[in-house]
Amino acid sequence: MKKQLNILCVVGARPNFMKIGPVVAALGRAGVSAPLVHTGQHYDEAMNDRFFTDLGLPRPEVNLEVGSGTHAQQTAEIMIRFEPVLDRLAPSAVLVVGDVNSTIACALVAAKKGIPVVHVEAGLRSYDRTMPEEINRILTDQLSDYLFTTEQDAENNLVKEGIPPEKIFFVGNVMIDTLLANLDRAKPLPDGLQGGHGLVTLHRPSNVDDAVILTRLVDCLVQMAGELPVLFPVHPRTRSKLEAATLVNRLTDAGIILLPPQGYLEMLGLMKSAKVVVTDSGGIQEETTALGVPCLTVRENTERPITIDKGTNTLVGIDPAHILAAFHDILATGGKAGRIPDLWDGKAGERIAHVLTERLSPLP
Ligand code: UD1
Repeated sequence: MKKQLNILCVVGARPNFMKIGPVVAALGRAGVSAPLVHTGQHYDEAMNDRFFTDLGLPRPEVNLEVGSGTHAQQTAEIMIRFEPVLDRLAPSAVLVVGDVNSTIACALVAAKKGIPVVHVEAGLRSYDRTMPEEINRILTDQLSDYLFTTEQDAENNLVKEGIPPEKIFFVGNVMIDTLLANLDRAKPLPDGLQGGHGLVTLHRPSNVDDAVILTRLVDCLVQMAGELPVLFPVHPRTRSKLEAATLVNRLTDAGIILLPPQGYLEMLGLMKSAKVVVTDSGGIQEETTALGVPCLTVRENTERPITIDKGTNTLVGIDPAHILAAFHDILATGGKAGRIPDLWDGKAGERIAHVLTERLSPLP
């Protein structure tokens, strides 16, 4: 009997969950065994379990339960705990997504064992190595045998870094597969927001870890709240920094609605009807482009330039004057008209499964 292809799929942190879903489903439809390993990088109900329920993800075969720590601790602990799992499951390949610490940790263990590494969302570059994710992206791509990209610029980035073009496959965006599949299930808005609202998410260390920068951004949000209702689902990292800098009351006194981290379907509901989204997230830049909703990215750079060139995203940096000018422009004009990037069509997972089933063979 022909041995079944067995591709071990890794997830660890919140932004991984919406990327892995379409891949695991498409591999399953193609008759490939695709066990899920969860590193446990994110573990709270709101950051983790909730997404498994919302997205109907299969239960992980193994949870490495690494939890939080410094980058070195977290990455090292994932590697140590992942190695015996890899030995036991002996997959034909290891598939990692995105750019979190779990991505690089598992890619490195697999590559050293001579197991092919598949990277979904390869080739994105901010060219800012102060971002931990940029280091994770560069190294994961160097270790990978199959690199699946979401936008055409990504291939140029990879080729410049010496990756052979035959390893690179432009397949579109699996996160948008998930978005399109769940749009009808998006949760309705809470009462009273039907007149339009602003939605804020901030969690990058460069924005929230420094109290001076965080205070400046909070004051900027307070000004926005004078013009329209503002909702702010707060990431655990941000919550602890806001509390440490005693900024929570400044937000709530201005009428800003602070929410716990939202489930996938709640977030989709809040995003799709927002007048403007203000964020430093990578994924939300892409989701707002797919939804045609104006997005202001509070960062100096982005690894997702297509959301700016083709989509509804504007890079506004962290200077409050620039952020507020762009915010007022959106309120006045409705923001720039974007278009949907090529292959963001809900079929990226299928394309990945097709390439892998054609090229990988089961271990003897
Ligand atoms: C990680 C990713 C980032 C991604 C983000 C989405 C890396 C380097 N960073 O950042 O790319 O955008 O996830 O959330 O991998 N915490 C909890 N509960 C949890 C998880 C974390 O309370 O379930 C708290 C802990 O105090 C932890 C802090 O959040 O120390 C940061 O978590 P961590 O996984 O280190 O990084 P994120 O900031 O979440």
